Amino acid sequence: MFPKEDLKTYLKAHVLVFFVHNIFKYSLHQVIWPLAAGINTMSKNLKPIHLDYSGAGYSPSALVKRSIYSASKQADCYPYEGYDMLHEKIAEYCKTESRNIYATNGGDEAIELLVTIFGRKMLVPIPTYNEYEYIGKSRNSEIRYKNCLRDDNSYSLNYTKADLKWATLVWICNPNNPTGSIIPRRDILWVLDNTDAIVAVDEAYYEFAGNSVVDLIKKYKNLVVLRTFSKGFGLAGLRLGYMVSDSSRISSLKAAAQEFNVNRIARAAGIAALSSLGYYKKRIASMKRLRDEFEQFALGLGIYAFKSNGGFAFLKFKSIAELEKIYVGLKNKGIFVFKASDSEFTGLKGPYMRIAIGNRGDLSVLKKELKSLMQKQKLSDGKLR
Ligand SMILES: Cc1ncc(COP(=O)(O)O)c(C=O)c1O
Repeated sequence: MFPKEDLKTYLKAHVLVFFVHNIFKYSLHQVIWPLAAGINTMSKNLKPIHLDYSGAGYSPSALVKRSIYSASKQADCYPYEGYDMLHEKIAEYCKTESRNIYATNGGDEAIELLVTIFGRKMLVPIPTYNEYEYIGKSRNSEIRYKNCLRDDNSYSLNYTKADLKWATLVWICNPNNPTGSIIPRRDILWVLDNTDAIVAVDEAYYEFAGNSVVDLIKKYKNLVVLRTFSKGFGLAGLRLGYMVSDSSRISSLKAAAQEFNVNRIARAAGIAALSSLGYYKKRIASMKRLRDEFEQFALGLGIYAFKSNGGFAFLKFKSIAELEKIYVGLKNKGIFVFKASDSEFTGLKGPYMRIAIGNRGDLSVLKKELKSLMQKQKLSDGKLR
């Protein structure tokens, strides 16, 4: 048998092992796993919903997906051939000729080229998309901001003849981001008839609004229309846009750009998207229905909703305090939207919020949270009175 001392040591060691083992087992089952599961469920519930940047909320057509895949097989080759095909396809879509088209690395490259070449003195309508100002500042443009949003919530161009004489580049965003307002054709014609400056009409949301002045490029050599595949065609991640203008204007813009400004995959996707118009028309129509339903829903909650013609809704709350409460409340639930002070917009001040429409699922989560936050808000308003 064991000598007495050895037996003591043996027992002590066993008791220690028993305790360490059971404490470990207990903490694994009672503390560590539940904590990990909790964190996991929490992170699942808090999967962020991005309704700030306006993604399409639908996937590319089957043809676009196939084209992306087959173009990827030539990823090792510079995209020296193939621009003509894209330009021809866009020209067919715009009912013009390919010499009037220049494809760009997103609409933002078109903005960059226009500002760099013509933007010495720019007229910028406000509020609007921030990129005109952003690039203008980096190129030392002189900028005149012209307020277009009125107290009655209407939005219309506010350029005078003197402004138009002064400018070298005039911006018009149609429909305007973020208000979603349409700029009537007669107002654009008035601008074109009263200036020698380049008039850049940004039709990024054309597929939602259906209004265009592309047909005027024949008459007005100073008109440049820019568009993108990021919105209606949902290809923001591939960066593809284009400009439509007089052919000599297009040549000078092209001369200032990089030789291979649009990559193979974006080009193939763009051609395929324009060959899948039926698919995209259906998706855009249902997104417009979602947008209109959402605007009615917001009005029902007592929030002013602009009549938007873009892929987003634009809301006005009663006060900045109300906007902030709702904005923070949504953010705490992992729902991200844009508010007026975000750098996405130029000249937007006040209790405004822009919500990208996205898909039905994300939008219904947002609606539920918005409703509950507005109810809480009304209760706390009532208590204050
Ligand atoms: C009005 C407007 N123009 C141009 C763009 C640029 O689009 P992209 O560079 O994604 O083609 C945007 C993007 O948000 C926009 O809202």
